[in-house]
Amino acid sequence: MIGIFDSGVGGLTVVKEIKKELPDVPIIYFGDTARLPYGNKSAETIQKFSVEIVDFLENKGCKTIVIACNSASALAADYLREKYSNLEIYDVVSSGAEAAAESTEKKKVGVIGTAATINSGVYEKKISEIDLEIKVFTKACPLFVPLVEENWIKRPETKKIARTYLRELKLNKIDTLLLGCTHYPLLEKVISGVMGRRTRVIASGSKLAGKLHEKFRDQAGKGKDKYYVSDLTPHFKTLASRILGKNTEIEKAEI
Ligand code: DGL
Repeated sequence: MIGIFDSGVGGLTVVKEIKKELPDVPIIYFGDTARLPYGNKSAETIQKFSVEIVDFLENKGCKTIVIACNSASALAADYLREKYSNLEIYDVVSSGAEAAAESTEKKKVGVIGTAATINSGVYEKKISEIDLEIKVFTKACPLFVPLVEENWIKRPETKKIARTYLRELKLNKIDTLLLGCTHYPLLEKVISGVMGRRTRVIASGSKLAGKLHEKFRDQAGKGKDKYYVSDLTPHFKTLASRILGKNTEIEKAEI
């Protein structure tokens, strides 16, 4: 049983990739919708919330945990690994850094994410651990999450905002842009359109799903996928079915 968590709905973009690779391995998802967003919170707060969620998932029988939130990966992954040495913990930042390093030919990578993720400097650190020669250019794009939440994906305003956010990254002539936030894959078309053909726009979900595939490929598990949130609204249900492409049963859970 794989436990996957995010601050809210965005982690479902990661679930989608994992289910493509491992359709028969059951997952438990927790979205902390009552306390979203994480992207503007302190490390201390994000660590505290993450511990509560991992306890919840562990109690449900998960031995493998996926942090499907870049902000929590950036600020709580090391903390969680130290605290839960009995669990195997995967995170989207490590996978994203690997995917970006593999993708870049010119050794120029751009990373966009929430303020918490970008200000943590985690991507520069992780990518330089893989290849010191790769130059990393980052940009926080805090308006992208609410634009996705409002489903303003095809609005001209969103394209304008994307142009403003991405201008400098374009000038830096990056050949790879990593979407370092779980909501951003939903804006992939807009972002790719702004960046142009010479920039490969990538997300971390498929890399992470590939790693899990290595571990779980022969282990069809018992049990049904379960989806929990800390606050359940019709809005969340709509967003969730938009991302997963089907109606999904979601329960509210106290943690
Ligand atoms: N899931 C968060 C992330 O990937 C974005 C939403 C939030 O700020 O909570 O950083």
